[in-house]
Amino acid sequence: MKKILSSFFIFLSLNLAAQTAAEVKMNVFVSGLMKKMTLEEKIGQLNLLTPGGGIATGAVVSKDVEAKITNGQVGGLFGVIGEAKIRQAQELAVNNSRLKIPLLFGSDVIHGYKTTFPIPLALSCSWDIAMIERSARIAATEATADGLNWAFSPMVDIARDPRWGRIAEGSGEDPYLGSQIAGAMVKGYQNGDLSKNNTLMACVKHFALYGAADGGRDYNTVDMSRVKMYNEYLPPYKAAVDAGTASVMSSFNVIDGIPATGNKWLLTDLLRKEWGFKGMVVSDYTSVNEMIHHGMGDLQQVSAMSLNAGLDMDMVGEGFLTTLKKSLQEKKVTLKQVEDACRRVLEAKYKLGLFDDPFRYCDAGRASKEILSADKKAAAREFAAHSFVLLKNNNQALPLKKTANIALIGPLANDKSNMLGTWAVSGNSEFAVPVLEGLKNATGGDANIVYAKGANISDDTVFAKKINVFGTRIDIDKRSPGEMFDEAVAAANKSDVIVAVVGEASEMSGESSSRSTLDIPENQLTLLKALKKTGKPLVLVIMSGRPLVLNWENENADAILFTWHGGQEIGNAVADVLFGVYNPSGKLTTSFPRNVGQVPTYYNHLNTGRPNAGDIFQKFRSNYLDVENSPLFPFGYGLSYTSFRYSDIKLSSASMNSGGSITASVTVTNTGNYDGEEVVQLYIRDMVGSITRPVIELKGFQKVFLRKGESVEVNFKITNYFLKFYNNDLKYVSEPGDFKIFIGGNSRDVKDIGFLLLK
Ligand code: BGC
Repeated sequence: MKKILSSFFIFLSLNLAAQTAAEVKMNVFVSGLMKKMTLEEKIGQLNLLTPGGGIATGAVVSKDVEAKITNGQVGGLFGVIGEAKIRQAQELAVNNSRLKIPLLFGSDVIHGYKTTFPIPLALSCSWDIAMIERSARIAATEATADGLNWAFSPMVDIARDPRWGRIAEGSGEDPYLGSQIAGAMVKGYQNGDLSKNNTLMACVKHFALYGAADGGRDYNTVDMSRVKMYNEYLPPYKAAVDAGTASVMSSFNVIDGIPATGNKWLLTDLLRKEWGFKGMVVSDYTSVNEMIHHGMGDLQQVSAMSLNAGLDMDMVGEGFLTTLKKSLQEKKVTLKQVEDACRRVLEAKYKLGLFDDPFRYCDAGRASKEILSADKKAAAREFAAHSFVLLKNNNQALPLKKTANIALIGPLANDKSNMLGTWAVSGNSEFAVPVLEGLKNATGGDANIVYAKGANISDDTVFAKKINVFGTRIDIDKRSPGEMFDEAVAAANKSDVIVAVVGEASEMSGESSSRSTLDIPENQLTLLKALKKTGKPLVLVIMSGRPLVLNWENENADAILFTWHGGQEIGNAVADVLFGVYNPSGKLTTSFPRNVGQVPTYYNHLNTGRPNAGDIFQKFRSNYLDVENSPLFPFGYGLSYTSFRYSDIKLSSASMNSGGSITASVTVTNTGNYDGEEVVQLYIRDMVGSITRPVIELKGFQKVFLRKGESVEVNFKITNYFLKFYNNDLKYVSEPGDFKIFIGGNSRDVKDIGFLLLK
């Protein structure tokens, strides 16, 4: 044993020495390079531009990019897509600029690259961390084959307000699950070694709290206590940092009144000093310049403030490029600050191996092999099926028989342009498989499937114009709504079952796509009501980038499969699930409210001093006159074609001390008629604390596969770590006393048992 231990320590110290040697080597290289650089060239490294061609999400697209690259005024580019174009730009940098410093090439690789996977919110509903890591790994393989070395992902903003369109890009409302996913995404992109030609830098965003915008209106003010920040909003960013993310993107919003991009507490005290982050911080799109509108001063002032705060790279706005020299002369910033930022950008390039080979990521052979390869498409199909959430299934309306006569109806049933979802900047909707095609592929013909569009996504031309900024997403039919309805109802009348594919266009969520209502557009609901009148079984397939309000749908449909925007293979994946080839296993990662007035609705809330018992109105209790407190579908909820029974919870001991652990066990039995997967969820409540603690918090989960009739014992080991929180002094502590454990298939339907944490 002694021998094993000592060789372990020798190995460890050699390893540490090796790491230090690598760091020393990097420092020598970067310092040597910086000695040759002029001030202008150092500032140039802090400049990130987009020459257009991608999607510009602000008013500005960079000008004179080629000349700036040649003059050493550019550190990196984004929005350049394609190996050949990237090679061309890199050639310019390494052949024509004085010091031949290679460029970074970034992009919004958000849910897949050219092979488009389900939106991140959908992927999170799989609760399959290994699968999510694989999705990032595949995206990295594909994106690096096309020349990229930097992904502006993962987006880990906790979001509890479905009005906010960017809820689509994250992993929902829970910090524990969000942290697991954040870490997995970073690992998937970087794979522990940035110098490989199939890994790229992750960029965790948007640091921080961007998902908590007032009223769910994008870019709006955020205001929150430190205790809430630390306990509920910061954990996923921290998890990404702990997993080694090479870069961080600052957010658009203010924190404690100071925009994140110029917030020294955030970017230096918290990120670098408290969390030990050593990588590079980039602004969001023109977020330096936007500080002028926040009322922080003119461009020179806000740029100096951002550099002072700890920002390294300025995205698109060129405030650094155009004002830092003057600020240095006027002593508003120091040379050390400029050099620290420059060093971090150069270190990123060094770690990516770009100084060894600037064309490491440019390999036309790899591009043609990797991009849209068959295995990636198969993964897209698998990921989609695993992300769908079955919200309702009365009398086993699903799965369908492949021989059933199906009336496939709805504006999203035979649509390609809305399948990829928001932020699919490199995806091509031409490759999307619509549901109609998926069902035909599965049934081996079209004899039993009759399709009718039935309605437009929206009939409102003014609304459609706002949605159609990147191309037609809402296509308003030449036929009148009445004609389309009649055709759909006629098809429904001839069928055994109606499958109605309805919901949101892809650009109804995402950036700058906030909504003040959460319903399916009214004309689609009118169509559903007409279909309901036919008396045929009504199966809804709902596509969306956010949770929706689904009261009518829940009361009237026989089954609801919520597919989100499921990526390019969605049609095949819908067929897999509707026909029972894959038994759905997704669970919601955001609560679905009953109406907009309930928002924010989230499961892990604090108790009030006047809590409501159940959903019955009580005077002088915390509730509403016109709606229950509970959501329509709670966090963690999702059905399967089979059913699961949970035993009572057994504890290995009724108490533990802070150095020990307790094991909580349940037996889960598949009591239905199908094999299936269940996400067994563990929640904990700290009954008495020095600050008010949430009524229930996710602290673990396991996804288990059970054949019909099979049982499995699921064990959760609970250590002190799971009982800790940030107290009022922002100390990470656990407090002795009573705790409660809850285990179940969602956050509402749980078994519980108490235990004691001893002093
Ligand atoms: C978004 C970021 C994105 C950036 C670059 C911004 O508008 O907020 O998430 O990475 O644009 O496209």
